[in-house]
Amino acid sequence: MTSVSDDLHQFSGKRVLVTGVTGWVAGPIAESLANAGAEVFGAARFQKPEQRTPFVAKGVNCVSIDLEKGLLDEVPTDLDLVLHFAVAKSSDFEQAFAANADGSAMLMETVAATSDNLSAFLHCSSTAVYAPHNHDPRAETDLLGDSHRPMPGMPTYSISKIAGEVLVRYTAKRLGVPTVVARLNVPYGDTYGWMLFHLMMMERGMAVPVHVDQPTSYTPIHAEDISRSLAYLLSVASTPATVINWGGDQVVSIEDWCQEMGQLTGLSPTFAPTTATIAAIIPDLTKLHATGFHSSVDWRDGIRRLVTNNRPDLLKG
Ligand SMILES: NC(=O)c1ccc[n+]([C@@H]2O[C@H](COP(=O)([O-])OP(=O)(O)OC[C@H]3O[C@@H](n4cnc5c(N)ncnc54)[C@H](OP(=O)(O)O)[C@@H]3O)[C@@H](O)[C@H]2O)c1
Repeated sequence: MTSVSDDLHQFSGKRVLVTGVTGWVAGPIAESLANAGAEVFGAARFQKPEQRTPFVAKGVNCVSIDLEKGLLDEVPTDLDLVLHFAVAKSSDFEQAFAANADGSAMLMETVAATSDNLSAFLHCSSTAVYAPHNHDPRAETDLLGDSHRPMPGMPTYSISKIAGEVLVRYTAKRLGVPTVVARLNVPYGDTYGWMLFHLMMMERGMAVPVHVDQPTSYTPIHAEDISRSLAYLLSVASTPATVINWGGDQVVSIEDWCQEMGQLTGLSPTFAPTTATIAAIIPDLTKLHATGFHSSVDWRDGIRRLVTNNRPDLLKG
């Protein structure tokens, strides 16, 4: 297999803004684009100056923005691409709408006014926007809903992500910005993942919440595949915007990955079926696959890498 940097060679020399760079998903993307020779601007609030240091060391230029407050004066001009990953996971609807909806539209307006050669705007959305429906794969045209409301701590997430999509789609049309709205399923990588929370619970002998309608299945996608898929997603950016599901090729459940982490560590997972958690959401990936993209990291290899990188002390033997 070719390296991620080789797969990203078409980004070399491009001026790329990556928002949400201090977060799970966007940090590794910014790094892989910088390694591939792009001029990367990583945006977040950067409330503490020392937060910039690791990004600068990886060749990422740091810019401070605040989407909730509409502070966008550091957004660079003459960008070729915008990859918009920033999200506010607030319990307050006013804050969540201001950052995730208004903020996304304001970012598009700012970039459209200052970047004449912008070729695409990627808005990272989430399969959290779907109404779960048993284990049926959800296509882009299927019913939306408030899938994350039952999950403690995420009362605004689904609705503010839907609001974000609507404003981004409207702004793309109004300003003629070629846009792709990519609905990401469960992202994970060598440095991050929902699975690490489950591993911590297993370590402490706590039961992992799963939905009563088991198995609690998703299509996890590894950070390497997330980076590799960018060119495919950007190739379908259009006006009006294209909406597309974004996930890995394999359907894997929380129950599966906890069992796998159990095999690797000797810890025995226990499960607490409940309605107070997110139900299975399996995206229909027909549209993504039609771009030519298929994921390449097998989920068991991905889980092994995650555990090896983060908790080598827990590995058996
Ligand atoms: N994680 C998942 O399981 C998952 C699943 C599906 C889709 N997604 C989508 O993937 C994207 C990235 O998610 P993530 O989990 O990586 O997020 P995350 O780890 O929570 O990071 C959020 C990022 O947004 C920035 N941010 C928050 N409020 C901001 C504001 N007011 N102004 C500017 N930046 C702000 C944060 O920067 P600060 O340093 O300033 O706080 C941080 O860089 C999001 O669009 C999310 O909806 C994630």
